Amino acid sequence: MDPQETNTLRGLMEYEAARTAPPEGFPTLPDLPGGRYTDPRFFELEKDHIWRKSWLFAAHIDEIPEPGCYRLWENAGQPVIIVHADDGAMNAFYNTCSHRGAPIVTDAAGKKPRLVCKYHGWTYSHAGDLIAVRDPEDFSGLDFSCRGLQSVRCERFGNLIFVNFDHDAPTLLQWLGPVADEWEEFQFGNCRLAARHIWDLNCNWKIAMEANTEVYHVRSIHAKTVAPMLDDRRNVNTFYSQGHGRMVAPRPKRADGTINAPVERSIWPEIETAGEIARTCTQSYGVFPNWVSPLSQHAIPPLLFWPNGINKCRLETWTLAPDWGNGPKPDMWTQNDGELLSPVLLEDTEFGEWIQKSVESYGFKGVPLSYQEARIYHWNQFADKMIGIENIPEELRVAQVIGEEWMYPNDPRVAFLNQ
Ligand code: FES
Ligand SMILES: [Fe+2]
Repeated sequence: MDPQETNTLRGLMEYEAARTAPPEGFPTLPDLPGGRYTDPRFFELEKDHIWRKSWLFAAHIDEIPEPGCYRLWENAGQPVIIVHADDGAMNAFYNTCSHRGAPIVTDAAGKKPRLVCKYHGWTYSHAGDLIAVRDPEDFSGLDFSCRGLQSVRCERFGNLIFVNFDHDAPTLLQWLGPVADEWEEFQFGNCRLAARHIWDLNCNWKIAMEANTEVYHVRSIHAKTVAPMLDDRRNVNTFYSQGHGRMVAPRPKRADGTINAPVERSIWPEIETAGEIARTCTQSYGVFPNWVSPLSQHAIPPLLFWPNGINKCRLETWTLAPDWGNGPKPDMWTQNDGELLSPVLLEDTEFGEWIQKSVESYGFKGVPLSYQEARIYHWNQFADKMIGIENIPEELRVAQVIGEEWMYPNDPRVAFLNQ
């Protein structure tokens, strides 16, 4: 982050601490309709438009380090195989044989010189081309060139592999927009995979994600864990036009003017190019649709939220970090290498099941959101754009009230700084 932007952020933190109402011109946020968490129609719309057309973080290159290595990936509800090809490319295909739909692989991961269907032995290259079938003389007019594996878009950001089911989607870099530039200082191309775990939760995926999209809850549920490290009244939210968002909050100052800093992570290696904000603040990005990640000089630890039906979800916890050599393996989110969620995530997930019961109750109508929680509204607003507003039953829509003037790099708050 350049010094001017850092200065602006510092100014905005003081602005946020001093304001006595939402910023002038910031829209009143209408209630989010409760049906967005429970209505099967909305769940289907998410499936058809959000999961089908967004870039989704699927794998780290350490998981398929050599040509022939593959990984089965079904987090988005589609059977996908991600393959490291002979030419170094990362390719993704439906795990669906072009003959009668049998799986190409059934193991979670492995390495194969060719992709051979388990049913009748059709054989594909790592590029998905059909290269051999058994008894070809018994098929009339079988055109190998149009019987390859169906591809899924697959692009890399540093060592991270993303997929997209929409062949007309923008590129991953276009999708990330300014976020990609801001992430340069974290060297995504140098981070190794330190930890990856999956957790089943009994709530709609958005309920789980929203617990990580605002700091309004910090003083209640993280009173002893996060609150001493995070000055929530100085939190600055930023909206990006692609539905992404960012929060930056400084550490609280003690009465003597000194600042709390986490000590337990100082044993992990550092991303040397990480900037001042990363080193002195809590900084977290939401990348549409399901990525939430704090970023610091020690780690890139994304949390991913995946639907598992309408009232259940999976939380995937990742820690990516610079090479830790013989030192302790970084894991931001769990205790004992996946035995239990970290204390902070235990706090963030403890109400999911309760909130799910509430949203399914007769008494639940909708969600009033404060200015502090506006990133949740912004996410929903972009979700509707992506689904196509006219495709959504009227009672389930959110109004498009946060205008372009609030989308980065625009920010009306900056004009108030020198007043
Ligand atoms: S279904 Fe794959 S070879 Fe028959
Ligand atoms: Fe939290």
